[in-house]
This record gives sequence, C-alpha cells and structure tokens, in this order.
Amino acid sequence: MNSLADNDHRYLWHPFTQMKEWMAEETLIIAAAEGAVLRDTEGREYLDGNSSIWTNLHGHRHPKITAAIKGQLDRVAHSSFLGLSNVPAIELAERLCALTKLDRVFYSDDGSTAMEAAIKMALQYWQHRGQPRRVKFVAFTDAYHGDTLGAVSVGGISLFHAAFKPLLFDVVRVSKASELPSGNDVAAVVIEPLVQGAAGMKWWPRGMLRELREWCDKTGALLIADEVMTGFGRTGTMFACEQEKVRPDFMALAKGLTGGYLPLAATLTTEQVFRAFLGEYGEFKTFFHGHSYTGNQLGCAAALASLRVFDEEGTLGKLTVLSSQLSDGLQRCRELVGVVDVRCLGMIGAVEIGPYPLEAKMGIKVCAEMRRRGVLTRPIGNVIILMPPYCVTTGQLERMTTVLRESIRSVCG
Ligand SMILES: Cc1ncc(COP(=O)(O)O)c(C=O)c1O
Repeated sequence: MNSLADNDHRYLWHPFTQMKEWMAEETLIIAAAEGAVLRDTEGREYLDGNSSIWTNLHGHRHPKITAAIKGQLDRVAHSSFLGLSNVPAIELAERLCALTKLDRVFYSDDGSTAMEAAIKMALQYWQHRGQPRRVKFVAFTDAYHGDTLGAVSVGGISLFHAAFKPLLFDVVRVSKASELPSGNDVAAVVIEPLVQGAAGMKWWPRGMLRELREWCDKTGALLIADEVMTGFGRTGTMFACEQEKVRPDFMALAKGLTGGYLPLAATLTTEQVFRAFLGEYGEFKTFFHGHSYTGNQLGCAAALASLRVFDEEGTLGKLTVLSSQLSDGLQRCRELVGVVDVRCLGMIGAVEIGPYPLEAKMGIKVCAEMRRRGVLTRPIGNVIILMPPYCVTTGQLERMTTVLRESIRSVCG
C-alpha cells in the first residue's frame, strides 16, 4: 500500500462520490496542467472539458495569474480580516462593485458560504428594518445553491438534499414566476439567474428574471442572484443578470472569481442593505458571521489578475466566437441514437441522453468513455456537460465535441 492511488483509497473521501465504486476503479491523479490540458502522474494528457468543475476561466497556469499569486506570496499569504484590512481585498472590492453595479462586498470561501451569507443577511436585514415577520424564503424546484445547511434549505434537488431534511428550514417552493406567493412576508427570493446548473443546465424562460425583479419591487422582497456558476462570462456576458438588465439585492460569486485558482467567494449587496446594519455597538446590529480566511490575500490577488486578463485579452469578445463553435459542435449530437436534447448558452454546453434510469449510469458511462479518449467532464444524471475554459483553442474545442459524439455513439448506440 504505498502507491499514490493506494493511499488515495486508503485515506481519502471524495465529494459526491460513491466511494465503494471509487475504490474499485482506476484513480486518475492529476500532477500538472497548462491551458486547457490536465496531465496525470503517468504523463497522459486530458482536455479539461468542464473547466475543473466550472471554476477555471483563462486556463491552467496562466502566466499573469500565476505571477500575481507568486508576487502576493512574497508579500503576505494571509492575515485576518477581523479588525484588519488588506490591499488586494480592497482593490478587488472596488473592481467587483464597478462590474456588478452593487455597493458592498462581503468575502467568504466558496459558493455555499457566499449563499449562506446572503441568506443570513437578508433575514437579519428585515429584523433591522422592524419587520421581523419577514422570514420566508422563496426558492425554486431543482435549485442548487451549495451544500451548507442554509444553501441546502433553499436547494431543491431531492437526491442531494432529502437526507438532510430534519435540519433544514422551510421554504416556499415554486417552479415558475406565476407561482410566486401573495402577501408581503417574503424576506427574499433565491434564484440561479438564466440557468439552473446542477439541475442539468435548465434554462429559465427569457424575461423570467426581470419578472422576478418586478415582483420583488412590488412586494418588497429581496432578490438573491446566485451567480456562482453563471458569473464571469459563463453565459456569454460577464454576469447572467446583465442579460435581463436586472440589479439584484444580493449577488453570490465564487468558482470563477479567482479564475479557478483558489477558493474565494463574495456576497455583494446594496448600500440600502448595508446601511440597515449600521448602529451603535450595543445595538448589536452587527452581521455576526465570518470565516478564518475571509478576504484571503492570495485569492484576492488571483481574482484581480483574472479580471485584468479579461481586459487585456478581450476575453468577453472572444467568447462569442467560441460559444458558436461549441454550439455547432454539440448540435451535431442531435442525430445520435439516445440524444434527447442539446442546450447551449454562452460557454455552457449540455447534451441530454435518455430517458434512462439513474441506476443505469448512462451519463457516467459516457463520461468514462470520454476519459478513455482524453476528455474529462462529469455528467449530471443523463446530462453531459461541456464547459471548456476560455483559453480553449479551436482544435481543442473540436476535439472535445468530437469525443463527446463518439462516446455517446459508443455507449448509447
Ligand atoms: C449555482 C451554484 N451555487 C452554489 C454552488 C456551490 O458552490 P461551492 O461548490 O463552491 O460551495 C454551486 C456549485 O456548483 C452552484 O452551481
């Protein structure tokens, strides 16, 4: 028991993984990466077909992001954000406010904690505003907002969430805008704007987000936009909310925030929400929430570098060309046996196969076949996701979509 794989099987527990199967299978161990390519300990190369679970933007080992992290490391890696501030955290907050048109940034560590902070802020906001009965949260069927308990409460995927029900708070569950409740007791509505990611890349009808904003304006409820997956160009615009000209009251950012280099998250909100928490110390209006690594300098330096890359490399402009190539490549899956739908938006591509029962593991089998052919991604049930990093070359993108087609043909047809 001394190889890395043996020790992985001996000591580790992987996320969202049936470990019995994991321990019986060959383990792929990544040792290096560059651009859109991941390299394993055996020297085999794979294309990163899901941007390392939707995090990586400009590719692995981008010289500017690497240099920014190394430069920051030579100054300071981390100091507490309690009672202290730091240079990159301040600079990043200013950039994020300019980009999102929101006013205040609260840092945390990942998508779940960004959502957790938004939920708790929304609840406490109404207490400070003298409306303590506004405690209801409206959330959507099939929503996914992370794995901490507040995020799970607003989540709506029973496979992931049902086991934890005894620990969750009740929410008003709706599946479309027309089901929004009447009354003025809703604290906030929580949504993944434009597309529900973990539900299997399901698009909302166009205009739905705007409708939600109008409903919130009418009833006074706050709008929490979970841009953890959609943020930073994934849907073709910097943020999904821009496509419906919506300014939410909260925006949760994580995943691509650091370009996919380090765990860092941000919950952005308005000056109106922020001001409700101001008071004398003894009024205890403080937002009593925080994490040890809040405002981590390395993460903030990486995020600033990633945003500079957007400007210097004209990244958003490039995405128009890449997304149409992704879409053209995936549309060709339509003719295959077993394919029931092909969906594309910006740099998100999804091919749905089936209908197959989950136990048949058809999505998993297609992805295993893709891995054998040198492309890595993960399915969501019967939906195969292709979400390449923005540095992907035309040839690499062509390879990804071709391998996906060949793998579906080999498994389903
Ligand atoms: C929309 C959305 N919100 C929140 C999360 C949770 O983010 P994290 O895994 O960083 O906690 C995810 C993760 O996939 C997500 O897609």
